[in-house]
Amino acid sequence: MAQSNGKTVLVTGGAGYIGSHCVVTLQEAGYKVIALDNFANSVDDGCDGSIALKRVEKITGEPVTFYKCDLLDTVYLERIFQNHQIDSVIHFAAMKAVGESMQYPMLYYKNNIIGMINLLEIMKKYNIYNLVFSSSCTVYGEPEKLPITEEKRIGQSITNVYGRTKFFIEEILKDVTNSDDKWNIIALRYFNPVGAHGSGLIGEDPTKQFTNLMPFISQVAMGKKEKLTIFGNDYDTPDGTGIRDYIHVMDLASGHVAALHKLEKSHIQIKAYNLGTGRGVSVLELIKTFEQTNNVKVPFTFEARRHGDISTMYADPSLAERELGWKATRSIQEMCSDFWRWQTMNPVGYKTVLTNGHNH
Ligand code: WQD
Repeated sequence: MAQSNGKTVLVTGGAGYIGSHCVVTLQEAGYKVIALDNFANSVDDGCDGSIALKRVEKITGEPVTFYKCDLLDTVYLERIFQNHQIDSVIHFAAMKAVGESMQYPMLYYKNNIIGMINLLEIMKKYNIYNLVFSSSCTVYGEPEKLPITEEKRIGQSITNVYGRTKFFIEEILKDVTNSDDKWNIIALRYFNPVGAHGSGLIGEDPTKQFTNLMPFISQVAMGKKEKLTIFGNDYDTPDGTGIRDYIHVMDLASGHVAALHKLEKSHIQIKAYNLGTGRGVSVLELIKTFEQTNNVKVPFTFEARRHGDISTMYADPSLAERELGWKATRSIQEMCSDFWRWQTMNPVGYKTVLTNGHNH
């Protein structure tokens, strides 16, 4: 992977699941990393530090400068820009649970959109125009044609508030780049991130009642939940359950480094790229793969469809391959075995005390 010659990148939401994995690949690519997080969906160490990022430091041997900071606190946010010579920003900090977003729309609009606007204003004030934005395949709504390419118009038939926040922000970013051509922005549209770093030291530790499929599968396999609830088996899919494009979080992380390199090499104003594998996997297929890969059982029960869910979604990732030189390489089996290693090494997530007697 090309080196960064010591450039500094600010990672918002850096203590989170995707953010922390991305910090590993950024440091391995030679970047100095400043990270901030408000612990809305990540775990602090009781002294405003991030357990996940302390473990990242164990993995890479490189220090992460961390700030407990909420993007709605512009005074503290600006102080971070005053304290460091930042070259680029990767913006993860956002709430992202589809189900939760339908229950608390104002929380999602305020946190995700106002947070983005605050960040843009301060970046501009400090003449920082390189931005990688964590967007989502949910901006495509219910797809008419599959696999989905970036040509598909976004914003139509979006079925949930979370997806609308990502769509509105992409529109805001387009308007911002039209108003000032110094901006240099890539929006990465994630499909379904799953898995964990191969060390088992970092992973997905959902701190909320609403969480994604893989953590629930894993909790059932651990015996922490009796059964997995499958939301709907009457979709127009081969086995009736929802289909998604699951992508290993480490592949997703390397996609961010590829995007940063692209911004450092060329001025593109704004462009969006799908980060997916191009393969659709159903809920039942994922359960079966998880059971076979990890030699566990995952009992389940079918219930009604979840409000806001779509039937089928998977990517055409060829544009990122052509223009970013990036491709997902890890298999669905690796996603299942890496997640299970994280889960069994950390039965209570980041609160687990490791063999060294610490939780990091
Ligand atoms: C996956 C499938 C559910 C839980 C996610 C992220 C969102 C965005 C897109 C990045 C669906 C089914 C789930 C359960 C189930 N990613 N399911 N039982 O809704 O596709 O959205 O990817 O931006 O941030 O949330 O992910 O994991 O919730 O659902 O049957 O207990 O699993 O119906 O078919 P989703 P998910």
